[in-house]
Amino acid sequence: MADKAPDGNLMKLPVSKLTLGMFVSAIDSNAKGKVAIANAGQIRSQDTIAKLTKNGIQFVWVDVERSSGDCGLKTSVAADPGQHEKAQKAVGSRDARQNHAKKILGEAKGLIRKVLSETFEGKAIEVAPFEALADNMIESIMLDDDAFKCVSALRDKDAYLLEHSVNVAFLLVTFGKHLKLDRDMLKQMAVGGILHDIGKIRVDNKVLHKPGKLTPEEFEHMKLHQVFAIDVMAETKGLSQVSKDVCLMHHEKLDGRGYPKGLKGDEIPLHGRMSCIVDIFDALTATRCYKEAMSPAAAFKILLSLTPFHLDTELVYEFIRCVGVYPVGSLVELSDGRVGIVWEAKDRDALHPIVKCFYSIKHRHYTDVAFVDLRKSELNIERGVSPSSLDVDPKPFY
Ligand SMILES: [Fe+2]
Repeated sequence: MADKAPDGNLMKLPVSKLTLGMFVSAIDSNAKGKVAIANAGQIRSQDTIAKLTKNGIQFVWVDVERSSGDCGLKTSVAADPGQHEKAQKAVGSRDARQNHAKKILGEAKGLIRKVLSETFEGKAIEVAPFEALADNMIESIMLDDDAFKCVSALRDKDAYLLEHSVNVAFLLVTFGKHLKLDRDMLKQMAVGGILHDIGKIRVDNKVLHKPGKLTPEEFEHMKLHQVFAIDVMAETKGLSQVSKDVCLMHHEKLDGRGYPKGLKGDEIPLHGRMSCIVDIFDALTATRCYKEAMSPAAAFKILLSLTPFHLDTELVYEFIRCVGVYPVGSLVELSDGRVGIVWEAKDRDALHPIVKCFYSIKHRHYTDVAFVDLRKSELNIERGVSPSSLDVDPKPFY
């Protein structure tokens, strides 16, 4: 009764077999075959099914993944392992790696949440759990740094400080790995990254959560997070100098106009310079309640505008090479107007990743999910797209 499309998630069904909750993404026309429809979506009432029949439509294409769990479709697909396997093949191993990275991300958040509250209660930080976490992060990145970058694109707007701390740590390890730093160094940098904004827990919430630009007075107060951090670092036993530097130097500038110490040039070591770059990059590409996420390409432009007075020019170029023009997890528009997520970039040049397409900007509706390998396709990347500029939510497709 049902055919499976070669691209996995779509199943051809007679209209008579439709039930509530199934996600109809296209109709089947005798003359033209599969035709995408503008009002694709889940069936919410019997009226919709009646309307399809009345319009003479006999078959439709149903998206199994986006259909609701209780419509019976998912069970019937799962019951046929051959079909299921075919549908999942393209994404299977990637999912496993991504799940691994998601798990570590979850652990990281739990740990940071705990330490933030403990520090708030005046307890000293215990270093050992952070080192264990840093080890896990490194493991995950060694295994597949694309997987984490993809997870990192899924930001949680509410727990910004947590997200940011974890992202900075992961970015530092990714960047450090790119620069071929040794494992012990990566570990110390990861610990520093996790703790880099620890001083913010003593910043007034009104200033910390203020949407938009801070007044000069508020900015002075915000800068205090690094003075508070000096205290926290001094109280924390067993923390390496590298970890402390990453925390205390991420707002220093090469020309000596940074804070808290106004260090200059060579006084800021490599890991300190790296922390400045990844901190700004992550802040720019995050979605906050008051601003859209900036595309990585636009963020790179800003990073370059901050050289050589604030940031180290050569290191910024290395960072761009490391993250890529269109990093995994970022959204891009292809030359045919489809939008997709950069899905796999390992062992490829930056302009030819595999892109998971799910939406058409031209037609303003979802399309069949399709993996486009730009090495084998005539298509190319037209531009990077910021998630908040789309009128649909890309999250379900990650
Ligand atoms: Fe900071």
